[in-house]
Amino acid sequence: MVANLPFGIDFGGTGIKGAPVDLDKGEFAAERERIRTPSPSTPQAVAKVFVELLGKFPDSGGPVGVTVPGVVRHGVVRSAANIDEEWIGTDADKLFTDATGRDVHVVNDADAAGLAEVRYGAAKGHAGLVIVTTLGTGIGSALVYNGVLVPNSELGHLEIDGHDAESRAANSAREREELSMKDWAKRLTTYYRTLEMLFSPDLFVVGGGISKESEEFLPLVDIETEIVPATLRNQAGVVGAALYATEEGE
Ligand code: BGC
Repeated sequence: MVANLPFGIDFGGTGIKGAPVDLDKGEFAAERERIRTPSPSTPQAVAKVFVELLGKFPDSGGPVGVTVPGVVRHGVVRSAANIDEEWIGTDADKLFTDATGRDVHVVNDADAAGLAEVRYGAAKGHAGLVIVTTLGTGIGSALVYNGVLVPNSELGHLEIDGHDAESRAANSAREREELSMKDWAKRLTTYYRTLEMLFSPDLFVVGGGISKESEEFLPLVDIETEIVPATLRNQAGVVGAALYATEEGE
């Protein structure tokens, strides 16, 4: 029975994935569906895909959470480092609520992953300051203090040695420059040391697709703070979005 379960949508560069979520367990309540991201991925084109995606789950009627890889303030997208520029200034909560007829809440992708990892995953029950980073096309970040999210931290765009940090240390930089894990880990060391200096966190959690290969690079990251791989993997966005929508809707 998935009638009033919240629904999570993970809007990524290549795919849009969605599933109803069981928030007691932090798991999908039905098998997720995936639709290819339209190109160009304008807000209108993406809204159409959401309608199609939700149509595949006619029994699910709860609030809908959507991840966006940009700053989101009160439902309005404020930055678009790796998505179509048309997103900037779009009231995505309103656009998607109007398009789908559901109660939709949009959240930054890394913030959604952070919420999910702290509630159900690698940082479950962890007190103090947890910084969740996602290493993908860009670097996403979530600051969670005693379980409470400070949204839109955007620590992937710290300027380090005159560079936008994600342009040097994201997984896309490793791929683009064909870096060995050892060389990439040196860049990650610089990155995480900067975060340590600025925030003195209690724990770092590392997510993003590459985190499933964490044993190849995390042991090479030379920092003081405990650093662990994310455990929810590619479910974190969907689960975190559904959690966010439920808590926002209350
Ligand atoms: C964006 C962030 C996003 C991150 C991961 C960055 O370029 O500015 O908002 O969380 O990429 O997708």
